[in-house]
Amino acid sequence: MIALAGFGRPHRHYRRTDSTNARAKTLAESGAPGGLVVTAGEQSAGRGRQGRSWFAPPGTALLYSALLRPLGDAGLLPLAVPLAVCEACEEVAPVRCVVKWPNDVWVEGRKLAGVLIETRPPAPGREAEEAGDDESWAVIGAGVNVAVPLGAFPPELRETATSLGSGEPPSVADALEALNAALGRWTRASDDEVLTGFRARDALHGRSIAWDGGEGTAAGVDDAGHLLVETEAGTRALGAGEVHLSVRS
Ligand code: BTN
Repeated sequence: MIALAGFGRPHRHYRRTDSTNARAKTLAESGAPGGLVVTAGEQSAGRGRQGRSWFAPPGTALLYSALLRPLGDAGLLPLAVPLAVCEACEEVAPVRCVVKWPNDVWVEGRKLAGVLIETRPPAPGREAEEAGDDESWAVIGAGVNVAVPLGAFPPELRETATSLGSGEPPSVADALEALNAALGRWTRASDDEVLTGFRARDALHGRSIAWDGGEGTAAGVDDAGHLLVETEAGTRALGAGEVHLSVRS
C-alpha cells in the first residue's frame, strides 16, 4: 500500500495536551517527517469520529497519533489501521480482537479502541504515490483503553466499553511499542492482505444493522472497503464517511 521506514521516530510525548491528533496535524503542517508519533498521558479535548469526543482517564490509555507521509494510495487505510491495533493489543494482552467496520476495535462485544484518521490528500493533478510528494499526509489517531478500570468510564460507556486489563494490565509503553511495529507492517500491506485481514476480523458480518437511511444485514466489505449490506431493495455499499451505524443483533 505505502512505503515508510516505520513509526515512532521522532516521538513526542505530552503529559497533557488537547488532542494528540491536533498536535500531530500542527507538526505535519510545519514539515514534521513521516514516522512521527505523538502520545499523551491525558487529553483535554480528545477527538472521536463523527464529531464526538474521546474520553480516557489520565495515564490509563494509549493516546496515539502517527504521521504517515507521504500519504500514498490510502484507499484501504481505514481498514488497515484497526488491524494494526488488533495485532498490537493481542501481542500485549490475552485478548481476541475484532473490527466493527470501519475501524472500531472490539473485544467480546465491547469497544476497546477507536481510530480517527485525518488526511491532507495530494494536490489535484498529482499522483498519489508520486515520488517526493511530501505535501500529502495522514494523521492516524488511535485511542486504546489499556488499564482503564470499568468504573472509571463515564456511566454511558460502562455497558459498552472495555480495557485490556484492570487487574494486571500491560503497560501503556508496551502497547505503544507494539502499535508502532504493527502499524509499520499494516501500512505497507497490499490491498489483498488488508482485505483478507479485515474479513477475518469482521465483527458485523451477518449482523442486523441500521443506519440513518436504511437497515439490513451486513455482508462483508467490497474490494474498495465499502460495507456491503443486504436490504429488501438489494445489496447496498456504504462508505465509511457517510453513515452512523447501529448494530441490532
Ligand atoms: C472513535 O472511535 O470515535 C475514534 C477515537 C479516536 C481517539 C484517539 S485518542 C488519540 C487521538 N487523538 C485524538 O484526539 N483522537 C485520537
